[in-house]
Amino acid sequence: MLNFKFKNPTKIVFGKDTISTIGSEIADFKVKKVLLVYGKGSIFKNGVYDTAVSSLKNNNIDFLELSGIKANPLLSKVKEGINIVKENNIDGILAIGGGSVIDSSKAISAGACYENDVWELFEGNGKLLNALPVFTILTLSATGSEMNFGGVITNELEGKKWAFGSPLLYPKVSIIDPSIQFTLPKIQTVNGAVDIITHVFEAYFDGVKNTDMIDELCEGIIKTVIKHSKILITDPKNYNSRCELAWASTLALNGLTGVGRHGDWASHDIEHSLSVFNDISHGSGLAIIMPAWMKYVYTCDTAKFAKMAKNIFNIQGDNNETLALNGINELQNFYKYLGAPTTLKEVGVKFEDINTIANNASLLSPMGSLKKLEKQDIQKILQIAFE
Ligand code: NZQ
Ligand code: ZN
Repeated sequence: MLNFKFKNPTKIVFGKDTISTIGSEIADFKVKKVLLVYGKGSIFKNGVYDTAVSSLKNNNIDFLELSGIKANPLLSKVKEGINIVKENNIDGILAIGGGSVIDSSKAISAGACYENDVWELFEGNGKLLNALPVFTILTLSATGSEMNFGGVITNELEGKKWAFGSPLLYPKVSIIDPSIQFTLPKIQTVNGAVDIITHVFEAYFDGVKNTDMIDELCEGIIKTVIKHSKILITDPKNYNSRCELAWASTLALNGLTGVGRHGDWASHDIEHSLSVFNDISHGSGLAIIMPAWMKYVYTCDTAKFAKMAKNIFNIQGDNNETLALNGINELQNFYKYLGAPTTLKEVGVKFEDINTIANNASLLSPMGSLKKLEKQDIQKILQIAFE
């Protein structure tokens, strides 16, 4: 295990009927006027908007709205939010949605306190010294954004989907009421399950040795996700399974699984470039990319992939090579069982597009930790992912 520091300041309020407490949670921070950020309308159908707004009113918190955040959220929308905040003396952001809404809210929170173009921060130029407090009501368990300091935004003019993070952007309070996820379309539950599993594997397969304690946590999270996502695809209103998936999702990317190790984020980096050109959902992209990445890199740590096969998929055997390959196949079979796409061809990518996607991803190369990937490695992974 490597040396580490761990601090996560986000307060989680978890469980049924907790959304009505959002107003008092925000009032505790002396915030008077929030920008209420949400997506394309699901929060009206499941009643979350009404509950949140009446809680704000009951606590004398004024608000303006920014609606229409799309999946794979755009920089232009973030800038629209920053302008509203600056022109209206807004002193906090309330995100109601999944990762796209929360990430946009974090970028607005940063951009409202940053004197230059907010994209500079994504480019790694400039330093964020202040940010507005962000509060969230999570409606889709997938990204872990409700309890981490990162955000991913697409700069549509430059064709870059890049991440930015700062400890100033941990949400102050996140409300997770798993019952509001009853309304998720099946594919979004599946996307969530794939995203959670990928986050955990990106901690697990980084080549760092002597990480037994955290590996056990990783394996436990993944086994929980497999068990309960299987239930949810046929029984979407199973409250217990929604709770299990939701908490697994938060733990998967709140920093815990990443302590004492480097992590290897190559699958995410490649997927982000895939969604720049194809605008597919993040979870679908990961179901395609990560198994292909595994097939390309497993020989860098065959024993660890064999451990995955044994401890997560219960596959028996003595030959590590066979175990590793069977484990990867089992993961892919599980994704197929859920109904996730597992090849680029299925989502309409053409073989000749691979070069463009690899060029885009290689703006961030060398990437990865288990194996450092250059452009030609990324191309090979995309070729494996093709069919
Ligand atoms: O827009 P609405 O109408 O709200 O519909 C949304 C959207 O269409 C719908 N939805 C959300 N909650 C619902 C619901 N529909 C019915 N009932 C509910 N309760 O779900 C759709 C997808 O929402 P989105 O927020 O895009 O999904 P997700 O949470 O998977 O977020 C994906 C984004 O997060 C980024 C991804 O790259 C992607 O842009 N990521 C952020 C990370 C982070 N901040 O740490 C890490 C992740 O790995 C990821 O990269
Ligand atoms: Zn993800």
